[in-house]
Amino acid sequence: MSQLDQVNLFRGWPSTDLLPTERLKKAAVDALSNPLVSAEGYGYGPDEGYLPLRKNIAWWLSDFYAPVRPVDFDRICITGGASQNLACILQVFTDPIQTKHVWLANPTYHLVFQTFEDAGFYQRLGGIPEDEEGLDVSALAVALEAFEKELPEGNEDNEHENIKSPKPHRKSYRHVIYCVPTFSNPSNKTMSLSRRESLVRIARKYDALIICDDVYDFLQYPEINNSLVRSRLPRLVDIDRFLDNGPRDRFGNVVSNGSFSKLIGAGCRVGWAEGTGDLIYGLSQTGSTRSGGAPSQLMSTFINELFEDKSLQRHIADTIIPAGARRYALIISAIKEHLAPLGVTFLSGSEHHLAIGGYYVWIRLSLPFNVVEVCKIALDYYNLVLGDESLFTVPSSTTPQTDRQQHIRLCFMWEAEDKLAEGVRRLGSVLRMLCDK
Ligand SMILES: Cc1ncc(COP(=O)(O)O)c(C=O)c1O
Repeated sequence: MSQLDQVNLFRGWPSTDLLPTERLKKAAVDALSNPLVSAEGYGYGPDEGYLPLRKNIAWWLSDFYAPVRPVDFDRICITGGASQNLACILQVFTDPIQTKHVWLANPTYHLVFQTFEDAGFYQRLGGIPEDEEGLDVSALAVALEAFEKELPEGNEDNEHENIKSPKPHRKSYRHVIYCVPTFSNPSNKTMSLSRRESLVRIARKYDALIICDDVYDFLQYPEINNSLVRSRLPRLVDIDRFLDNGPRDRFGNVVSNGSFSKLIGAGCRVGWAEGTGDLIYGLSQTGSTRSGGAPSQLMSTFINELFEDKSLQRHIADTIIPAGARRYALIISAIKEHLAPLGVTFLSGSEHHLAIGGYYVWIRLSLPFNVVEVCKIALDYYNLVLGDESLFTVPSSTTPQTDRQQHIRLCFMWEAEDKLAEGVRRLGSVLRMLCDK
């Protein structure tokens, strides 16, 4: 076991010095000192969540994404974060009989696999490869077509069977597509506009609900030293609103899953969902929300205070984005110095059609390195924590396996800035040690 201080380039959390602690303390005091606000905060809260926060989020999203028409607050409900809300979406909008398959980019954010399995989709996950522009939508179209053709005879007999009771607020989509269109986890790919439009059209054709974790969108690090006030790309939920005369039915084909975890702190457990008014209402009717009220109601009142004086927007612009840009530059320069000479490559911002951003660099090791072995040695000998590609691979027999898994995810937002280069240097030592073996 190594005696070195641990360096953790695996953990995908915001570093604690990036959190708005002082402002959040004041927000909590302000909310709890105002009897009108605290009375709401202490209650179960309306199913759709704390109304002032829904309104502020709608305004904020309208400003950032600048959709053709502003976002209305009835398109928004408050959630307990993207992970909790993924489970709620699956509870209301899928049925293990009617919903045939779940399609995910491969690699994918690993912690969603269990959520899909819990919702009845064990062994019904399909991984679709990515290229430089993110999810390969042509490969997805081919896979969906083949899947529909190959459905076993008699499978349609259960067309009218449901595990869940039919209710007007519910719809069971035939397919689910899960993706992170901007600065994806783990590969940090961003889908181009044409990809986004194709994906929405495919979802409409195959009756699929696209669940987008849009949790990194605000973390765009411009190359010149000023903060980006607008998103460069629309979300898929914006595209579904307006493309080819808008949604195909009252629920639409996209839900956007947003989160304050990377902006205020993961422990807040507050996020939001956006979709058509009917989809959002349906989501707010999840059994646990009907019983317990909107998730994270008290915390919602604190976060709302951060919107009231725009301190959240200022925190993102003045603290998170400059730190992200600095941290990204630090890790990239360390990769160039310590890993590139050993054959390690990565997709750099300048080769990318969009600004750099997010939390991760997805590095590719050259053959014959075995990434699982590399990560094990890194931990055992250098106390360096890393996540190798096998962790993020969709667990499915239908997922095309690349010959060898060669990638490692490096997170540059958790460790202290001075440890980023140290972690990369240690990884270089592991690779050199393996070369010398
Ligand atoms: C793609 C993606 N979705 C969801 C989450 C978790 O979001 P939340 O904390 O809101 O549950 C993460 C966190 O790493 C993530 O990377």
